[in-house]
Amino acid sequence: MCGIVGYIGKNNNAKKVILKGLENLEYRGYDSAGIACNINNEINIQKEKGRISNLKENINFSEKSNIGIGHTRWATHGKANKENAHPHKCGKITIVHNGIIENYIELKQELSNLGYKFNSDTDTEIACALLDYLYNQTNDIIKSIELFKEKAKGAYAIGLLCDDDLDTLYAIKNKSPLIIGINKDENYIASDVPAILNFTKDYIILEDGEFAKINSDSIEIYDKNNKLTDKKVNKFESDLQDISKNGYEHFMLKEINEQPEVAKKMIDEYINKQDINNLIDLSKYKNITIVACGSAMHAGLIGKSLIEEYGNIPVKVEIASEFRYKKLFIDKDTLVIAISQSGETADTLEAVKIANDKGCDTLGIVNVFGSSIARNTSKVLYTKAGCEIAVATTKAYSAQATLLSFLAYSLAKNTNDKNKLNEINSFLTDLNKLPILMQKVLDNNEEYKEIVNDIYNKNDIFFIGRGIDYSLCMEASLKLKEISYLHSEAYAAGELKHGTISLIDENTPVIGIVTDKNIADKTISNIKEVKSRGANVIYVTTEELDNDGDFYDKKLIVPKTNSLLQPLITIIPLQLISYYAAKNNNCDIDKPKNLAKSVTVE
Ligand code: G6P
Repeated sequence: MCGIVGYIGKNNNAKKVILKGLENLEYRGYDSAGIACNINNEINIQKEKGRISNLKENINFSEKSNIGIGHTRWATHGKANKENAHPHKCGKITIVHNGIIENYIELKQELSNLGYKFNSDTDTEIACALLDYLYNQTNDIIKSIELFKEKAKGAYAIGLLCDDDLDTLYAIKNKSPLIIGINKDENYIASDVPAILNFTKDYIILEDGEFAKINSDSIEIYDKNNKLTDKKVNKFESDLQDISKNGYEHFMLKEINEQPEVAKKMIDEYINKQDINNLIDLSKYKNITIVACGSAMHAGLIGKSLIEEYGNIPVKVEIASEFRYKKLFIDKDTLVIAISQSGETADTLEAVKIANDKGCDTLGIVNVFGSSIARNTSKVLYTKAGCEIAVATTKAYSAQATLLSFLAYSLAKNTNDKNKLNEINSFLTDLNKLPILMQKVLDNNEEYKEIVNDIYNKNDIFFIGRGIDYSLCMEASLKLKEISYLHSEAYAAGELKHGTISLIDENTPVIGIVTDKNIADKTISNIKEVKSRGANVIYVTTEELDNDGDFYDKKLIVPKTNSLLQPLITIIPLQLISYYAAKNNNCDIDKPKNLAKSVTVE
């Protein structure tokens, strides 16, 4: 989603800092970029469609500037073109904006009646005109921002410059994320911490309704009631290493390869240093509802299987954007778990607020420290995956599934289910071997590349499985679609024959995932059904279920581990298959078209 960076400073480094910051936010996804800087007391705006590199080509870095704002736009209102790109300037006001002004049509009408003309299709230009109008009325920026907050509905993070005072940068925040970076003789604003990491690790998080007046050596923050307030300064824990490729060709490949390290960190944090049971006791809840979007929702499905199977608590998994607008059956006996890498996904955040209002306890499983979901849930457990830059999540997804398996284990320890005892008793031993097994799977690249030869040029690819393997199919299929643009579908293996099997033809690739021995025979029967219709079957299974047979064309064997941990191993080859398919198809792997990493609009 849109990325904002702003600079004010005595070092006159606006252009350099803003461009670097925008590059560090590229991972959020965008389709145009722009910058507005003070050059000799005049605002100079440059914007381009496409990548930041297009914009950079035309920027004169030798020109010094004390203040500026920059933006990467992910189109919502109006096409991705130069006119709609930010910054927008109206009268004396220049802004960059992330979010959606919901009442922009009414505002546009009112402002048009007052004589304002618009050059773009964006809601941002309306917000800019409104601020300019209010400034003309009041001659006071602070007062104008207060009035703007009353008039504008929706989500907005805004960086603002005013022609009359080019020594002050303003920031306004409601629902879309915005932070202020702090440094000596210069300060910054940004949508996310990586934008400022080249310059400082100290930052303040703005809350909804807050705004700030920022100079090179002072910051004044106003709360939601427009009163001056003090805010805590945070220090970012990771380092810049996290946002560099570290020798890998793509962030995605680096992040896939970081999974053993993340698993180690999480074992250390939640098992060795402290017992996860002491952090949260799930046994007191009658039921659990998981809310999340995209891959985080798929991790939730893994959690559902494990918590129901080993923890005996019924779990519902709800797509957050659906949860928001449906009849809910949740109450104080329900724990609502919100899963999110960014902690900023608008739908998941709103789902949390709804659950809070209904009196439920809420638990955030979140990667980004101090993010909105982390701040709005009654309890938060961090996934410790470090910065994830590639739009398609890999290490954060598996970290979410890891944490959910820990929660299932923490519940299982209190049950007397004899059938599950083997898994529960061997969990800790198997857990310690997890990073090594993950590494073993990561090292089989040649095998995955060979499988990719069968799928990278096909129109439709199917993933089939049952139970937890079906949840893995959903994630594997999403991964393939999002980065390689190949159409694929995930199907519950037993459901295929109710319609979709009609799409299976000679050589249609079908990836059958079979890791649960209790239902292996059933899934293998379904695989045989597609094989007999000519499918090109790739059988993904464990050493334990390695099966010589005539129902597959290729097989991919992953190590067998504890059932609570198996998905964490099985997903790795599937992530790598997507990666190599995208590479074969020359796709922009880390920044797939149309997608955003942090989806801050509903
Ligand atoms: C976007 C990303 C997905 C991610 C989803 C939820 O669509 O491209 O990879 O799974 O948002 O994001 P979250 O930050 O809430 O986990």
